[in-house]
Parts: sequence; structure tokens; C-alpha cells
Amino acid sequence: MSEYRFMTLARHIIEGERKHPEATGELSKLLSDLSLAAKVISLEVNKAGLVDILGFTGHNNIHGEKVKKLDMFAHDMLLRAMEYGGHLCVMASEEEEDIIHISPHYKVGKYVLLFDPLDGSSNIDVNISIGTIFSIYKRISAEGKPGLIEDCLQQGIKQIAAGYVVYGSSTILVYTTGEGVHGFTLDPSFGEFLLSHEKIRTPKKSRIYSINEGNYLYWHPGLKKFIKYLQEEDENSGRPYSSRYIGSMVADIHRNLLYGGIFMYPSDSRNPKGKLRLMYECNPMAFIVEAAGGMATNGKQRILEIQPESLHERTPIFIGSQAEVKTVMDFMAKEEVNNEAYISNKI
Ligand code: AHG
Ligand code: MN
Ligand code: MN
Repeated sequence: MSEYRFMTLARHIIEGERKHPEATGELSKLLSDLSLAAKVISLEVNKAGLVDILGFTGHNNIHGEKVKKLDMFAHDMLLRAMEYGGHLCVMASEEEEDIIHISPHYKVGKYVLLFDPLDGSSNIDVNISIGTIFSIYKRISAEGKPGLIEDCLQQGIKQIAAGYVVYGSSTILVYTTGEGVHGFTLDPSFGEFLLSHEKIRTPKKSRIYSINEGNYLYWHPGLKKFIKYLQEEDENSGRPYSSRYIGSMVADIHRNLLYGGIFMYPSDSRNPKGKLRLMYECNPMAFIVEAAGGMATNGKQRILEIQPESLHERTPIFIGSQAEVKTVMDFMAKEEVNNEAYISNKI
């Protein structure tokens, strides 16, 4: 790692753009504004046990879930760090029902930003890794005017960059512009993200599965069989697998990206659309995992090809190493089910 010591995130982004003479430098500025927000959120997350920022605000978010103060802090910080730059025309956040317009005080640009300000927020109180996820698109509406909902509702395949930040034992920012996935670790002594994981490739096959097994009873029968299959003993195929589930998507996927593994949040008979949000969680993670050589589907269709219909829609997701994602799809395809709740394409 020593040869990367002085490769800061800012330098890496600029060098990446130099390879594309047509680049305007705007994407670099956007990513560097995002990294500033990440540093501030990281600082606040680390202080969370010390200051009176824990606990519920008493409000529910638009998904009917309790919002913690730190979620709102992260949401506000991202808005403040991002809107002044003049590169964005519209934003959308998991914590806000409608699209977020750029204040009339600032210039309107050609990019669109969607984010989950704090992922895994139920883990804040217990010192478990949480994260921020972001996704960047180019606007499709006419330039020079405020962005529209159509700019936000683009297929994941149209992303031009995506990334996440894990606030864990250290703070790591991982991003891709579709060519290579790179990770940077925040050096707290001088507040810079330094290149620590260059050109991440996720293993094609793995020995880890991540799913909330408490929902077993409600799963698709093919998924039940797949999990039982992973638990059987078979030396040749490396079974039984290990089960690892943190309950913070960003941290679960970060581990699996590096070690290999499959992360699943399926639909089930109680939650026919699954739980995770297409625009803030699944699309950016799918873009990153695919760029690292992995796969992401809703059980039938590639996540990045889903045509979104609404800002906060949910989707089932199976994401990670190619071998396991293909196998779970085969298991589910073999089981006939009449319950529409499980049939991902119809939900
Ligand atoms: P968020 O904190 O942004 O609402 O997301 C929580 C998500 C995700 O991080 C995690 O994978 C999932 O919820 C865990 O859900 P279960 O508790 O149902 O397993
Ligand atoms: Mn989330
Ligand atoms: Mn969240």
C-alpha cells in the first residue's frame, strides 16, 4: 500500500479525468464536494456517542420509519455541500419525499444527484458500521432550467458515477465512474482520503451469504432451497458457506465486494417489493458491484435495467459474486409459485 501514500482522492479523480480529454472537470468537483460532506458526516458519526445527538427526532420518514437525528444531519450536510457548486440541476434523498431543487441563489448545472444520507441507521446506537450511498446521472431535461423528476427516474445503467462511504473501524470511500472501482481510506490526522484499494475486483465465487434469515418463513421456496443448499457439506463446491449479516447494506456489501459473497434482500410474502430502495441503494450498489466484476439482479432482471417509476420504489435484490447470483436465480426459476408476491417482474 505504501506506493499509494500520497494518492489523494482529489488527485485520483483529476488523473482519471485527464484520460478523457472531453471531460469538463465538473464531475471531479462534484466528487470532491461529496468527499467533503463525507468527512463532516464521518466526524459527526464518530462523535455520536459523546454528544447528545442520539435518539429519535420523533418524526417518521416518508417510508414510515423512525428517523434519527444523525440521518437528518447527514441529509442536511449533503444538501449544503452539494447545492452551491453549480454542477447539479436537481437532487433526491431517501429522507425527502419530493425531488430537491437547487436554491435560486446558485447556478444550475447538468448533473443529478441521488443519495441515501445514512444507511443502516438502526445501528447507530450500537456502534456498528453505517454508511452513505450516492448516485450521479446526467440530466435529460433541457439545460439551464431547474431539473425535473424525469432526470431522477433514469435506469441505473445511465449512472455516470456512484459510490459509498462506510463509517466503520475507519472511514472508507469507494467510487466508480464505471471503469474500475477504487477505495480511499480517510486519514484522520490530516483529513484526506488516501488511495487504499485500487481497481477492486470482486471474487467470481465466494463462501459468504448475507441475508436476514429471520424472514425465512416468508421466502420464495426456491430461495429457501438455495440457503439450505449453501448450508450443506460439499468440499468440491466449498460448502457450507459462512453466514454474515450486519444489517447495514453498505457495510455488508463492502465486505462482500472485497471477500466475495452474495447479499440478498428478497421480496417475501409479507413484503412483495422487498425493502431496499432502487434509486438510493440498489442502483448505486449494482453499478459499483458490476464495475468490480460482480452481478446484481432482482431475481429475474438486471437491477441496472429496471425502468424506475417512482422516486422511492423498492426492489428485491440479489447482488455480489457472479456464481452465487446465478445459482440463486436458477433455484428460484425451478420452483413454481403462484403467489405473485414472489414474482419480481410483476411487482
Ligand atoms: P436505512 O437505514 O437507510 O433505512 O437502510 C436500512 C436497510 C439496509 O441498510 C439494511 O440492509 C436493511 O435495512 C436491513 O434490514 P433488516 O433489518 O430488515 O434486515
Ligand atoms: Mn439505506
Ligand atoms: Mn438511510
